[in-house]
Amino acid sequence: MPNGYTRTQIILHWLIFALIAAQFIFHDGISEAFRSLVRTGEFDRSLLAVQHVFTGIAILLLVVWRFSIKARRGAPALPDEEPKLLKLTAHLTHIVLYLLMVLVPVSGLIAWFLASQSAGEVHEIAKSVLLVLVGLHFAGALFQKFVLKSNVMERMVRPNP
Ligand code: HEM
Ligand code: HEM
Repeated sequence: MPNGYTRTQIILHWLIFALIAAQFIFHDGISEAFRSLVRTGEFDRSLLAVQHVFTGIAILLLVVWRFSIKARRGAPALPDEEPKLLKLTAHLTHIVLYLLMVLVPVSGLIAWFLASQSAGEVHEIAKSVLLVLVGLHFAGALFQKFVLKSNVMERMVRPNP
């Protein structure tokens, strides 16, 4: 089992975080473009719509890369003194975060390229669940740092292969 995360894993974690944040902040263009696609069958090539599609595809590729590193190396153990229930919650959160980091862009791609409204609905629900889980994940990171006073937050900052 590794002691921590590599530099590449840490860069990927924060880069993917920044790109996902951008997707949430700049979604107006794609939402409008998608409504017009469903209505007229025409692709809107406005800058914001194209940005959403390309950033989303980049996220998907980076997540596949990130997961392949994790599958090869495994993950560092959580602190021994951490309550079992918290460890379980952290593991489950990480698994569902990975699933959503794939489901959100894949449902978006199907919605956009097949003009599928049902895939659009899946995309909207999945992105909302992603947002809630990221909130839980963030709360967990703060809890580790300020309540348990562990080195877990540190691990996603300083490489320790
Ligand atoms: C992790 C990556 C992605 C995130 C976090 C994300 C996030 C979002 C958000 C927040 C919205 C606004 C939903 C709303 O209006 O309530 C949206 C809409 C949309 N996104 Fe994405 N997206 C991602 C990837 C993609 C990809 C790769 C595509 C493929 C082209 C895509 C296509 C769409 C479409 C078509 C809509 C409009 C759906 C609708 O209004 O029903 N998204 N996305
Ligand atoms: C889009 C947002 C985010 C996603 C999808 C995400 C996802 C993940 C995942 C899947 C892991 C497990 C390790 C791995 O396989 O890479 C992880 C670890 C971690 N994340 Fe995030 N994260 C996000 C944002 C944040 C934020 C905002 C913080 C804190 C400010 C944070 C702090 C951490 C820490 C400290 C770890 C290490 C946990 C450990 O060592 O067990 N993450 N993140």
